[in-house]
Amino acid sequence: MRIDRCNNIGDFRSMARRRLPGPIFHYIDGAADDEVTYRRNTEAYERCDLVPNVLAGVEMFGISSLGTISIEEIGSTISTPKLFQLYFHKDRGLTNSMIERCIAANFDVLALTVDTITGGNRERDLRTGFTSPPRLTLKSLLSFAMHPRWAADYFMHEKFELPQLKDYVKEGSNISVSVGDYFSTMLDQSMNWQDAADVRKKWGKQFCLKGIMSIADAKRAVDIGATAIMVSNHGGRQLDGSRSPFDQLAEIVDAVGDKIDVICDGGITRGTHVLKALSVGAKACSGGRLYLYALAAAGQPGVERALENLRAEIERDMKLMGSRSVDQLSRDNLRLR
Ligand SMILES: Cc1cc2nc3c(=O)[nH]c(=O)nc-3n(C[C@H](O)[C@H](O)[C@H](O)COP(=O)(O)O)c2cc1C
Repeated sequence: MRIDRCNNIGDFRSMARRRLPGPIFHYIDGAADDEVTYRRNTEAYERCDLVPNVLAGVEMFGISSLGTISIEEIGSTISTPKLFQLYFHKDRGLTNSMIERCIAANFDVLALTVDTITGGNRERDLRTGFTSPPRLTLKSLLSFAMHPRWAADYFMHEKFELPQLKDYVKEGSNISVSVGDYFSTMLDQSMNWQDAADVRKKWGKQFCLKGIMSIADAKRAVDIGATAIMVSNHGGRQLDGSRSPFDQLAEIVDAVGDKIDVICDGGITRGTHVLKALSVGAKACSGGRLYLYALAAAGQPGVERALENLRAEIERDMKLMGSRSVDQLSRDNLRLR
């Protein structure tokens, strides 16, 4: 299958499944425990229907604490607004260094992830033995050998590094660990509201908490001066059984939507999902797998195609909804089943 035949996220998922060694595919595709929350994140959008009327962008670049490109390189090559996702490490020197490097590189937004206090139970990774960077075990060797193109790309590419971490953490460069173990051992389980408020103060610009699910926490985010929250369960990769962000969205928007930007994260595979979240009152949507399958299967051209597909869907669906701009979308456009 070629990328110009990939018309939706599901096509890119199939391509990734074929092109990637099993452990890598399952790391991206998998989630916690029985993966109930993961499935529900997308199913939630099917519980509610759009009601169209007839006759009638902001570009942001985001990079993770665990990204393989440095803050400085992104700062000097990307001119659109830049978001850095911060993991709060036990090593305060490391946490502070990432904030300071983002300030120096002129990033616009800091998003502190608050739902990874310990690693989710990702049973697919336990089965495949997935680690980062990938470690060759007898079990995974066969899968890597059956995907020689991927393996050649991986080994010929510049050395795997986590440049945000490498001066502080041996796990940041060449020791293979499972991501769950990384969360559990390296991140600070005692992180509390005062810590989040301190990070916000040190940062001083637009500040988002990623992984808020309860109304009480959404209100506390407002109290500490956050400018946005991402309603998120980490794509179902942490607490299985957690409510889906879309199901929880209306209550959160009603509680804090006039004071803070509410972003709906996860489960999005279609333009209509974005329109539904915006109709409920989200300011924006975000996702991981919606571009990760395409990235893993086909690199930058894959991501461009996946995002272009999504953009075209949103535009077509807006026309079919009879909406000229996203602020015309409201709950009048929705009916729950
Ligand atoms: C392979 C993978 C890696 C991820 N890495 C991070 C990360 O480093 N930091 C973070 O805050 N969230 C991370 N996430 C979670 C995403 O930011 C996002 O919350 C989630 O993927 C949304 O669900 P979706 O994949 O259904 O869109 C990751 C998700 C996946 C699938």
